[in-house]
Amino acid sequence: MSNVPTEEKVLDVEHYTDRLFRFSITRPPSFRFRTGEFIMIGLPKEEDQKRPIMRAYSIASPAWDEKLEFYSIKVQDGPLTSKLQKIKNGDTVLLGRKPVGTLVLDALLPGKRLWMFSTGTGIAPFASLIRDPETYERYDEVILTHTCREVSELTYGNQLVADTMNDPLVGEMVQGKLKHITSVTREDYPLIGRITDLIQSGKLFEVAGTPKLNPAEDRVMICGSKEMIDDTAKMVETFGLTEGSNSQPAEFVVEKSFVG
Ligand code: A2P
Repeated sequence: MSNVPTEEKVLDVEHYTDRLFRFSITRPPSFRFRTGEFIMIGLPKEEDQKRPIMRAYSIASPAWDEKLEFYSIKVQDGPLTSKLQKIKNGDTVLLGRKPVGTLVLDALLPGKRLWMFSTGTGIAPFASLIRDPETYERYDEVILTHTCREVSELTYGNQLVADTMNDPLVGEMVQGKLKHITSVTREDYPLIGRITDLIQSGKLFEVAGTPKLNPAEDRVMICGSKEMIDDTAKMVETFGLTEGSNSQPAEFVVEKSFVG
């Protein structure tokens, strides 16, 4: 199979803050992925470029959707996102051919409760997973946490969860099983603090109404900056959970949100 990216069309773009936006593109009929995976995204190369700049993006849309959705940061001098943030409906975006990743249901052993810990744009793979009926077939409870610096950065996640609850396909499954816990670190908000601090203090479990993490019942997926992942993984390990992979499923998995 060719490795050359396919050319897709932008279907819609929504800007949330000066640092965050969402876009969706056409999906080739042959494009298959497992919920939670990422793919390379880029823009057609300009005259002075040898090859297009491509970056890994988590696919935020569910596998059953006919569009592909992505949630992105805007970095003013970022090689890709400085240009990508200017895309408009009908523009061309390059899509890689080989989705991969570890934030997939098959990398976890069966359990009772699935925790998804995200910061910033790290919520993207979970936007896909919370819209996948299989997530709810495998777990009794699904808890998505999203921590951002500022309240305005929670908008995408809040809209996503509200839309998912009202979705004709999965809404009924989701209601009663999905909890969405949001916290903020640099502004006033009902729940303040990094996810690591909320786990350590036990506040998270109080808010979620669950026992503390334990390897018999809990499964965890983590996505955010490299530092957030490292620190959160270390914290999760103190509760006795071990890291899994596609080839060796276990109790937690991690993935960086890569884009700069
Ligand atoms: P903080 O405001 O205390 O830095 P960023 O945009 O830098 O990726 O941060 C997104 C969110 O992740 C912020 O709320 C930030 O908190 C938090 N965060 C940053 N680093 C870590 C870390 N090492 N562990 C847990 N949370 C983190």
